[in-house]
Amino acid sequence: MAIPHVKPWDVAVVGEIFADHVFTGFPHWPRPGEEVIAQGYVRELGGGSVNTACGLSRLGRRVRLVGLIGDADFDWFEHRLSEFGVGIGGIRLEHDGTGITVSVSMRDDRTFFTYPGANRGLAELLTVPAVISDLAAARHVHFAMPLSRELATGILPVLRAAGCSTSIDVGHSPEWLRDTANIATCREVDLFLPNAAEAALACGETSVEAYVAWVLDNGLARAVLKRGAEGALAIAGGVLSSVAPPMVDAVDTTGAGDAFNAGLIDGWLDDEPLGRALERACICGALCSTAPGALEALPHPPQLRTLREQTYRS
Ligand SMILES: Nc1ncnc2c1ncn2[C@@H]1O[C@H](COP(=O)(O)OP(=O)(O)OP(=O)(O)O)[C@@H](O)[C@H]1O
Ligand SMILES: [Mg+2]
Repeated sequence: MAIPHVKPWDVAVVGEIFADHVFTGFPHWPRPGEEVIAQGYVRELGGGSVNTACGLSRLGRRVRLVGLIGDADFDWFEHRLSEFGVGIGGIRLEHDGTGITVSVSMRDDRTFFTYPGANRGLAELLTVPAVISDLAAARHVHFAMPLSRELATGILPVLRAAGCSTSIDVGHSPEWLRDTANIATCREVDLFLPNAAEAALACGETSVEAYVAWVLDNGLARAVLKRGAEGALAIAGGVLSSVAPPMVDAVDTTGAGDAFNAGLIDGWLDDEPLGRALERACICGALCSTAPGALEALPHPPQLRTLREQTYRS
């Protein structure tokens, strides 16, 4: 494959795409056959791929989102993604309907009902040569999905040959994380980006020390550990860095991990050492949690710069 001199995209983000339907303010959880009335409802684009793509675009990166939605939702997605400046040329339309997540928020807990819809075609999409070429046209490819070993074996070498760096956040995918065959994928990407629960599934223990040992023993190039309000750490070239997030009034941490990924990739594209890129990542994750939903509070570059100077330079 010819390597374009100037890549048209900074980042291609590929993964499952959802229409999120979020219901809030129920008096109690319904008994079978009962109806309860929500006080609030919002419909929003969802999925880690959408969140990270929007986060990177807000930070000024040229971003292409690659995935599948139902054709009936195209206008909505085009309009909403254009508000963030995310390129939609990598989205394919299916008759199957967009994947749907219904989220029901009670005071202390949230429950999700998910229909995968068009996302069921994602693995097949990633075998299409034109789609792989689309990905290769970016400087960096972020997989917001549990990339199967078989697909990884086919795609990652092609991306590397095309000069792309890569990252992966598989989300809460216990089967993928427990399968030791996927350690090779964690090794082959440039950035492995789990949260604490996902890291524990991968290494089989919950302590930070056990995860660091697992990363080093398995020869991962660079790995992160996202630790919610405690911040995050990174292991790169045998060096451990740890960063605390800025103090914020968190109202909804949905998508904080995806916003974190956007900040980290933004720093990576600027050739920052991973320990420094963690600062951008922690700020993006923290700010994302200051408004309901995953997209509203994603920062623009001036906010990121200002908060970075205030938090990490004093
Ligand atoms: N309450 C909080 N206060 C400040 N920063 C936070 C808070 N929650 C999350 N963050 C920031 O966001 C980052 C990612 O959050 P978290 O560890 O919850 O990821 P996650 O579990 O992958 O999230 P999700 O999958 O819901 O998007 C953290 O490392 C931290 O920097
Ligand atoms: Mg996550």
